Amino acid sequence: MTENQTLTVRDNRTGEEFEIPITDGTIRAGDLGKIGRTDDDPGLAVYDPGFTNTASTRSAVTYIDGDKGILEYRGYPIEQLAESSTFLEVAYLLIHGELPTREQHDQWVHEITFHTFVHENLKSQLQGFRYDAHPMGMLLSSVGALSTFYPEARAIRDPQVRHDQIVRLIAKMPTLGAWSFRHAQGKPYVYPDNDLSYTENFLSMLFKMSEQKYNPDPRLAKALEVLFILHADHEQNCSTNAVRSVGSSEVDPYSAVSAGIAALYGPLHGGANEAVLKMLKRIGTPDKIPAFIEGVKRGDEKLMGFGHRVYKNFDPRATIIKKAVDDVFEVTGVNPLLEIAQELERIALEDDYFISRKLYPNVDFYSGLIYEALQFPPEMFTVLFAIPRTAGWLAQWLELVDDKEQKIARPKQIYTGDRTLDFVPAAQRWA
Ligand code: ACO
Repeated sequence: MTENQTLTVRDNRTGEEFEIPITDGTIRAGDLGKIGRTDDDPGLAVYDPGFTNTASTRSAVTYIDGDKGILEYRGYPIEQLAESSTFLEVAYLLIHGELPTREQHDQWVHEITFHTFVHENLKSQLQGFRYDAHPMGMLLSSVGALSTFYPEARAIRDPQVRHDQIVRLIAKMPTLGAWSFRHAQGKPYVYPDNDLSYTENFLSMLFKMSEQKYNPDPRLAKALEVLFILHADHEQNCSTNAVRSVGSSEVDPYSAVSAGIAALYGPLHGGANEAVLKMLKRIGTPDKIPAFIEGVKRGDEKLMGFGHRVYKNFDPRATIIKKAVDDVFEVTGVNPLLEIAQELERIALEDDYFISRKLYPNVDFYSGLIYEALQFPPEMFTVLFAIPRTAGWLAQWLELVDDKEQKIARPKQIYTGDRTLDFVPAAQRWA
């Protein structure tokens, strides 16, 4: 396999031939740049809107095989992590590249737990938002604002400084997310309770009212733990690419992560589970499902929560989430939309339209149902995604910062506009 790992390219414009090395199934775009290069021509480039077939980095964080339905963090299958690990252990794994020893784990959990509070001025900033502010907009701006509280974060070459900001970000995300949620309800913000686990504390900051101590239902805390693990990383997706792209300017990690939150805010990335919920509500009752499926097959609309750009067999996260659904509904009572979702899935999985196009439920098909059962309004769904994804963004950011091959992200363009027009001043043009 190591022999002939080259590509021979003949430039028919000149008859010249080039031999380009192939490494890890890729060629270097820079090698293509040697083809046809003259004083007037910068050489051949690739045109790839959306980077659908361009590797932007070498990465050892997350492995996905979409055809086989495999997702691994640092080599560990997502199924095993979701079953037996905790979110903070997974965050440690993503960031450090290996599982912690007991001492490392305890130290990590201690550090995260004791950085959950945010500066009171940041609280004032959140309180300044309008009553109906979208929680994701609040999260985005408050994470960006964190950089002003920790100006030392700019020293991104200092490992200790990097570590401190990583701990702060993972620790403070649930606080900022929960406060954005409380703000919309006009309820007082709840301070972190450092006696509780990461997800228990999050539930406490979300739902605590007048009780002295909030005792979250362990089944809900566990379900949230599983959801957080499933969403912790997904290699070079839109928001991770945003974090890396912005991070490549060597800005502080708060600013880079706020770029990731901004990318996740968009409906094509973080908003699909909300669309699933709306679809299920619109269908309303199981007897309407066949007519709905016919509409999908006619191309009237999509079956939201089905299909994935990468997973063409099944989404391993969807299988795990289905189990969490049962646990949550045991506590909250069954969401009547579940019956419609299950029937929709059953019918779709037997239908040739979906089978032939390799369309299976994705992670969003059931997550919206869980979030709704936990009394989250749809605007909170992306916040619940951003909190755990922060661990993945930071793992990818660390990898970027240490990667000698990375440069400031600066793609090429194919210029299609006018050239060398003569400017006529406004007074003359409008005369
Ligand atoms: N319902 C009905 N038909 C679908 C669906 C769907 N959900 N998804 C894809 N198709 C059809 C397409 O119309 C196309 O049919 P054709 O070959 O007859 O033209 C075929 O399946 C292939 O679809 P593509 O659009 O080429 O697949 P792509 O990989 O580009 O899109 C995507 C993937 C965007 C996820 C798509 O499946 C979709 O829109 N699904 C619904 C939205 C959704 O659930 N998004 C969440 C994704 S997971 C996440 O982001 C965390």
